[in-house]
Amino acid sequence: MNSYLPELQSTIEKILSGPRGLLAADESFGTIGKRFAKNSIESTPETRRTYRELLFSTPGIENYISGVILFDETIHQKTSTGVAFPEYLKKKGIIPGIKVDKGTIELSNYTGDKITEGLDGLLNRCIEYKEKGALFTKWRALFHIGPSIPSSFAIEANAFVLSRFASICQSCGLVPIVEPEVSIEGTHDIGMCEEVTETVLKSVFNFLHFHKVYLEGIILKPNMVLSGKDNPKKASSEEVAERTLRTLRRSVPAAVPAIAFLSGGQSPLEATQHLAAINKAKNQPWALTFSFSRALQDLPLQAWKGNQSNLIAAQQLFLHRAQCNSAAREGTWSALMESEPPRL
Ligand code: 13P
Repeated sequence: MNSYLPELQSTIEKILSGPRGLLAADESFGTIGKRFAKNSIESTPETRRTYRELLFSTPGIENYISGVILFDETIHQKTSTGVAFPEYLKKKGIIPGIKVDKGTIELSNYTGDKITEGLDGLLNRCIEYKEKGALFTKWRALFHIGPSIPSSFAIEANAFVLSRFASICQSCGLVPIVEPEVSIEGTHDIGMCEEVTETVLKSVFNFLHFHKVYLEGIILKPNMVLSGKDNPKKASSEEVAERTLRTLRRSVPAAVPAIAFLSGGQSPLEATQHLAAINKAKNQPWALTFSFSRALQDLPLQAWKGNQSNLIAAQQLFLHRAQCNSAAREGTWSALMESEPPRL
């Protein structure tokens, strides 16, 4: 019996308190480099540190964000006044977490399919991250939809690896965020996304069972069920909510305390509208919240442009998106909120 079960539950309670959600600020060097380049910002350790400090130091953000997923570089960095980021976040009432996967590569012999790396040495890395203050971890598996992908083998291989990650994290008292993402890229219709998402989730929970993962001690981070980005027919928010909830009810045990969606390339407004529609249907077995990167950060990053004179404008946009998504989680979001940004 894992002696950390009370610790896992206590972390999850803190993450769910609020009603708040998670900020994914764990972009790898490659990903943040691309996002910075789009906004003509040079990507250096110092620009990345400054940008992340902008996000974390936003006044009042702790009212809407309960936890932040950090990248390895950031967990070792400090604020401009010399406080380590995990300690700074904790003082604000925000729980630090850490991405522990090492990204995706091509799955050999399965063209178009991906597998996530990072299991080697994972237990030791987790212990070090815990010493640095992390209370939860994240691992992302990625599935693309195409003519013959994802293959059943890729689904099972990734489900195995995700479950192994989850069991290692729980064995040292860290809450694993299990993230199987079915990508929005492609021309597929929403029905295909629903079918693939259901198959992937069922396989993930099958393997979590084999690995004896304690379901009350995980957070699931799935995609919403959406039409492919290049499909001309865009589903309504109501259809997204209905299909997403149906898929989750068919595949996610009620023992799982929380589902925190990724935004996955939706616009910031779409992600909020969809989360609000999902939370309109009350009385689901799990809390349904957000763990967004792009849907929280796109607008503040565009406003900041690497220029400190834009800091307040960027923080205001970040606070506004966090506030709207928190309201969407609570079921109190309305389109009116979008035109009333909060004052810092
Ligand atoms: P997006 O919200 O931009 O999809 O990012 C979430 C995430 O953590 C990806 O791993």
